[in-house]
Amino acid sequence: MTPEEFRRLGHQLVDWVADYRAGLAQHPVQAQVAPGEIRARLPAAPPEQPEEMQAVLTDLDRIVMPGITHWQSPRFFGYFPANAPLAGVLGDLVSTGLGVIGLSWQSGPAVTELEEVMTDWVRQMVGLSAAWSGVIQDTASTSTLVALLCARERTTGYAMARGGLQAEDRPLLVYASAHGHSSVEKAALLAGFGRAHLRLVPCDGTHAMRAEALAAMVEEDLARGLRPCAVVATTGTTATTALDPVGAIAAVARRHGLWLHVDAAMAGSAMILPECRWMWEGIEGADSLVLNAHKWLGVPFDCSLHFVRDPQHLVRVMSTNPSYLQSAADGQVKNLRDWGIPLGRRFRALKLWFVIREQGVAALRARLRRDMANARWLAEQVAAAPGWRLLAPVPLQTLCLRHEPDGLSGEALDAHTTGWAERINRSGAAYLTPALLDGRWMVRVSIGAEATERADVAALWQAMRREAEGGPAG
Ligand SMILES: Cc1ncc(COP(=O)(O)O)c(C=O)c1O
Repeated sequence: MTPEEFRRLGHQLVDWVADYRAGLAQHPVQAQVAPGEIRARLPAAPPEQPEEMQAVLTDLDRIVMPGITHWQSPRFFGYFPANAPLAGVLGDLVSTGLGVIGLSWQSGPAVTELEEVMTDWVRQMVGLSAAWSGVIQDTASTSTLVALLCARERTTGYAMARGGLQAEDRPLLVYASAHGHSSVEKAALLAGFGRAHLRLVPCDGTHAMRAEALAAMVEEDLARGLRPCAVVATTGTTATTALDPVGAIAAVARRHGLWLHVDAAMAGSAMILPECRWMWEGIEGADSLVLNAHKWLGVPFDCSLHFVRDPQHLVRVMSTNPSYLQSAADGQVKNLRDWGIPLGRRFRALKLWFVIREQGVAALRARLRRDMANARWLAEQVAAAPGWRLLAPVPLQTLCLRHEPDGLSGEALDAHTTGWAERINRSGAAYLTPALLDGRWMVRVSIGAEATERADVAALWQAMRREAEGGPAG
């Protein structure tokens, strides 16, 4: 494709994206296809000869679009907000257009230096002290894995340079909330701790980790001759946005020399609001934290901000220094390959830069406050409606709820709950995610798509009442 052909097709595709975004509300939110349907429309083998790009664009509409669930829809209330403002789309376009790879500072000085400044902008936006240094990873899963690798190496005095975990005389332990994200368990397993050495700490009535239970478990493990290594606290758990008491957990961590990693993947965005910062009170006592700008904050996926207090330790754990990557600038610059797992790094800071500049921090704050007000409004409706129940506090923008008709319990109640949620999803009117809470199905309503206004939340509430109260069990 020549630059001139790219210009023509690019304009056409920018129009395509603009039309898509302008018409989002018209799409059924959930893809209306059966498993295998998209695959069946695709040729099983690649074309031997070049094809017209026009044919590819036709197939984009014909084959791919029916298989899209519309995360940017104003009626998307599933999982978590994964906002992709159009300024961020342009940032990603430039990043791919440049095709630069940040292997080292020298391989793209602006890739590194814009990232340094952007992570520092976000640090300031969320009210962290200057003691933190940030790097952009792909996902929170990666950030948490890197954090646990750093924890492991601190506790063992860099065992990786000797026999690794396999040569340690006592097993190392990781502690996390029973309501922590599955990525924490995955990171602990991948970092070699072993499932038997992952301790799930019991929670209180708000599904937040009990710091005194953590302290008791650590003491018991020490008495048994084991080696407590790290604790992962969560600010905003996935199911209910529960808030672990970071300050109290930090005190336990400090007392026993544990690494404290805070998973604020979801709720970290809310810390741009000064009135929300109590939610991670004590954060300055952590060793590392992760905040996904690609969730509610609104930078297109992937853009996970990983902050650490001791970058030298991170670099010591992550660094390899083959001759072909060395340059004359080493020593004066950051080589961000030494801040994470992959060698190659995309120019992700561009989309952060575009979004923050195009929107301004004040508008970002206003959007999050709008979403929290919408969540409070819906919580009031649910609390006031007979037969409906809120199952957890609503500190941010996620509601956990159930419609509980008289006489319905146990599996029949589960069938009712998943039934009405499924009917809404299938109708395409809105999209919700059911989840298990304390062994029973409930429905999560996650408010915060960029386009979601009060009218969309009101329409969702009407649809919920219609499907649950008028459904088979209602
Ligand atoms: C609290 C929490 N931690 C971690 C994750 C995983 O995020 P990622 O997809 O960036 O790995 C999520 C995503 O839903 C989350 O809610």
